[in-house]
Amino acid sequence: MKGALEMKKPLIVANWKMNKTDIWTKKFFSDFLPLTADVQDREIAIAPPFTSLVTAKALTAETEIKLCAQNMHWELEGAYTGEISSKMLDDIGCTYVILGHSERREHFGDTDERVQKKVHAALVSDLVPILCVGEKEFERDSNRTFLVIEKQVRKALDGKKLAHNNSLVIAYEPVWAIGTGKTAKPGQANEVHAFIRELMSHICEKSISTGMRIIYGGSVSPDNIDALMSMDEIDGVLVGASSLDPGKFARIVKFTVE
Ligand code: PGA
Repeated sequence: MKGALEMKKPLIVANWKMNKTDIWTKKFFSDFLPLTADVQDREIAIAPPFTSLVTAKALTAETEIKLCAQNMHWELEGAYTGEISSKMLDDIGCTYVILGHSERREHFGDTDERVQKKVHAALVSDLVPILCVGEKEFERDSNRTFLVIEKQVRKALDGKKLAHNNSLVIAYEPVWAIGTGKTAKPGQANEVHAFIRELMSHICEKSISTGMRIIYGGSVSPDNIDALMSMDEIDGVLVGASSLDPGKFARIVKFTVE
């Protein structure tokens, strides 16, 4: 995170994945909101399961907290049993949608082509895609991290122009760090973020690549957040397991830069 000169607020996103029920969502906010009531200089987004989006929206109506979906289909409507579209997410007040998460790439057939269709669909709606990219452990071990990231980013954005620096967030999530307790070292993550920003400067206008937020995900916790957010190129975090505990997530939101 760059210093006071930087206008962009750090973005802290909770990804609850397929966890918790609606009653739990109510309990989460009754604990979490008082803990973060004084937070102003950072943006918080919560991605509950689809079944709790409406509840989360109602409970955060008086706050600046943004709503985020965990996935969507690329069509606006139609015969796609079990799917949710950008139109539906817009309608209930979502700001962000996570696309291309490695768990979806791994278990639900989200290929680069599908991720591209979803990113394009989000960009023409009012949703801001949080595009997840990241290498697997064997790819890092064989020095292919940058190649993998470049392919994922280029493919997802191919054929689409970004309008401004808030129209896309990129989440660097090394697959080997997700849910494993093995966080990338802050310097390792920073290096990849810098690579993504440089890559983006070739894909879109420089002012957009400089101003856009590139966030880190993978075993983020209260123990490593301060060191991660002290890195110049890390503009926020995408948090899985630690976002399910209101106290831990509030601590992450209230990081201090070393
Ligand atoms: P984790 O998940 O924090 O549990 O590693 C991060 C993510 O998958 O976005």
